[in-house]
Amino acid sequence: MPRPAMDRSPMPNPPLNLTLQRESEEPLYRQLIEQIRAQIDGGDLPGGARLPASRSLARQLGLSRISVVNAYSELRAAGYLSATAGRGTFVAREPIAPDLAPSQRPTLPASQRGASIRQMMRLARRPGVIDFSGGTPPSEFFPVRYLQDAINHVIERDGAAALSYEAPEGYSPLRAAVRDYVRAIGINCRAEDVLVTGGAQQAIDLVLQSLMRDGETLVTADPTYLGIIDIAEARRVHIHGIPIDEEGIRIDALEQALDQLNPRLIYVMPSYQNPTGHLMPLHRRRQLVRLAARRRIPILEDEVYREFRYDGDELPPLKALDESGVVIHTNAFTKVLLPGIRIGYLVADGSYYQRLARVKQAADISTPGLNQRAIHLLLERGVLAKQLERNRLELRRRRVAALAAAQRYLPAGSRWTAPDGGLFLWVELPAAGPSAAETFIAAIQRDVAFAIGDLFYTGEGGGRALRLNFGIHKPDRIEEGFKRIGEAWAALVAEYGDVERGAVL
Ligand SMILES: Cc1ncc(COP(=O)(O)O)c(C=O)c1O
Repeated sequence: MPRPAMDRSPMPNPPLNLTLQRESEEPLYRQLIEQIRAQIDGGDLPGGARLPASRSLARQLGLSRISVVNAYSELRAAGYLSATAGRGTFVAREPIAPDLAPSQRPTLPASQRGASIRQMMRLARRPGVIDFSGGTPPSEFFPVRYLQDAINHVIERDGAAALSYEAPEGYSPLRAAVRDYVRAIGINCRAEDVLVTGGAQQAIDLVLQSLMRDGETLVTADPTYLGIIDIAEARRVHIHGIPIDEEGIRIDALEQALDQLNPRLIYVMPSYQNPTGHLMPLHRRRQLVRLAARRRIPILEDEVYREFRYDGDELPPLKALDESGVVIHTNAFTKVLLPGIRIGYLVADGSYYQRLARVKQAADISTPGLNQRAIHLLLERGVLAKQLERNRLELRRRRVAALAAAQRYLPAGSRWTAPDGGLFLWVELPAAGPSAAETFIAAIQRDVAFAIGDLFYTGEGGGRALRLNFGIHKPDRIEEGFKRIGEAWAALVAEYGDVERGAVL
């Protein structure tokens, strides 16, 4: 029911009744959001009521101001609050979905819930920041001269043909080279099963577009790759996160989700998962493929970090274990060679392939032929193999530096992964103390940044986790950056550490 028209002047401040549990797993700013939302839903905070200024609420609650700013901005994004520049923050006059019980009201998609965090993350791009937040490989790894030479060679050799529309499925010699490349890791396929794409990102998007309809559900690990959360939202499909252990997605929880949610797709990263760096062991890979085959649910395996292996044995991709054609495999020459050239691929069987190829053509007619030919030439000339060898040595050195710096500088009680591959360290901060978002704000003031864990969760979670791309920096920068993060945390604890637990306002 719409509220009756009323005087539009701000109402006096109603009492806010907030009790924050500092020992709770739930980040403080999320507790703040939930409690304000409950008071609005329950009618204790009526439409038009003015909320305290973020600075004064932060002071009263013993929180950092950014926590309150974040909470207010998420509530604004959800339609609970409105703000007028210079006048303050108010409870919105039109209630959210008034006919629904609070428990039935739509929750915000993860990407919107994390909108304020994403905004904060933009600060990482400020010049001079030691930035551990991105997913990019180190730019000094890029084979720029080889590419320049390859492009010149291709244009001289192929002329206008290199600049025309390419076949929608991809440049045939590149498809054949990919076939040979994946055969070497156990995937028995033909060149006709290879679809060239604009990086792995487009590959994922094509799979969602061709296999899923609006409102259907896909399951993935929680935490997962941020890009799939975004694509799911853009393609209007539900994304459901399955808990993980150190071997990856948990099979028991996955089975339960398959029973209850009837998902249309399983998305996983078996090798050096983003963001945790976990490597799925062989027995878990087999279990996963068997389960999907039994239930006839396609798996999309994303192997973009596969070649960043600097320790341990090579494991077969899921597609190499797949006898019934349920696995779709994607990888790319982006992370390992040149992200900006945007060449990736999908390997899929039969009817999946046909649907994917149709959607691909509709999406962009063809992936740029010049780029495909240049990448093909780099493969032929052995540039990739040489790169991989060098990358592995250097990333191993950086991993050693990152683990030593974590041990030395991160807050006592933190835990982190020790990855055998990939670019990332996944850190869990101690259960009590500043959240990842709060630490980020203090860190950015010291010109260092990381990715805040909340970003990678399909629902709630990650408030105490950091993802650090150590691979992008040389050891001395890693050491300096981790040191500053430790200092940021310590400064927050010194400033807010004496706040009473469970402060009541
Ligand atoms: C797991 C994962 N998949 C896919 C991508 C996108 O890669 P590409 O540049 O090949 O589109 C990324 C990039 O960060 C990633 O981390």
